[in-house]
Amino acid sequence: MTTLEATADNAASAEGEAEPEARILDHAYDGIREYDNPLPGWWKALFWGSIVFAIGYGTYYHVVRWGSTKEQVYVAGLAEYDGKREQREAAEAASTSEESLAASAADPAVLEKGSAIFASRCASCHEKEGQGVIGPNLTDAYQLHGSTRMDLLKTVRSGVPGTAMIAWSEQMSAPDLVAVTAFVVTMRHKNVKGKEPQGRKVERFKKDM
Ligand code: HEC
Repeated sequence: MTTLEATADNAASAEGEAEPEARILDHAYDGIREYDNPLPGWWKALFWGSIVFAIGYGTYYHVVRWGSTKEQVYVAGLAEYDGKREQREAAEAASTSEESLAASAADPAVLEKGSAIFASRCASCHEKEGQGVIGPNLTDAYQLHGSTRMDLLKTVRSGVPGTAMIAWSEQMSAPDLVAVTAFVVTMRHKNVKGKEPQGRKVERFKKDM
């Protein structure tokens, strides 16, 4: 064995050791041979693993529907929230009455709070004294929705869908709703010059209830 041959042999065996899996395939294209060079085990594991996972995932969420998708979780959460809101509103409605609103409208502490809320939240549409601009005049003898104090509270709490009057229960606590409504109650028949009358003519609120 010449030195050259020995070197070549050494190189070949060194290569063989470095890649024990490398195997020359049978075919040859224009004398070019090809190694069968398998992908690393971790790569194949990821590949097959992701397919198995995808099948499991698809079955779980979309075929047998054991799991809830993000959308289903959202819809369920919203339904629960709406349900609780209805309960809360029912409880609030049960604890307020025409009488309790009349009492609040005669309570200076409640009215002070109510007037502050009105100035910051309502005056932009109903004007400072309630004479109306975007929203109706609250000081005249006409009312769009119902006629009682409770009707006013209902409008403030739930709003009027499709108008600028939003449901304030989304943004205010129950005592604040009562306070601001009590303040609105005191405006009736003050007849501040402002927006023209809207709605049906209503009676003056009876003072003593
Ligand atoms: C963005 C404008 C806007 C704001 C702010 C607003 N309102 Fe209104 N409000 C309206 C409009 C518009 C209506 C009339 C809705 C309709 O056409 O039925 C209305 C109606 C009302 C009514 C019913 C009047 C009636 O004749 O039946 C009451 C009471 C009322 N608002 C109180 C309030 C109170 C209290 C606040 C503050 C917490 C408030 N509003 C804030 C626009 C507003």
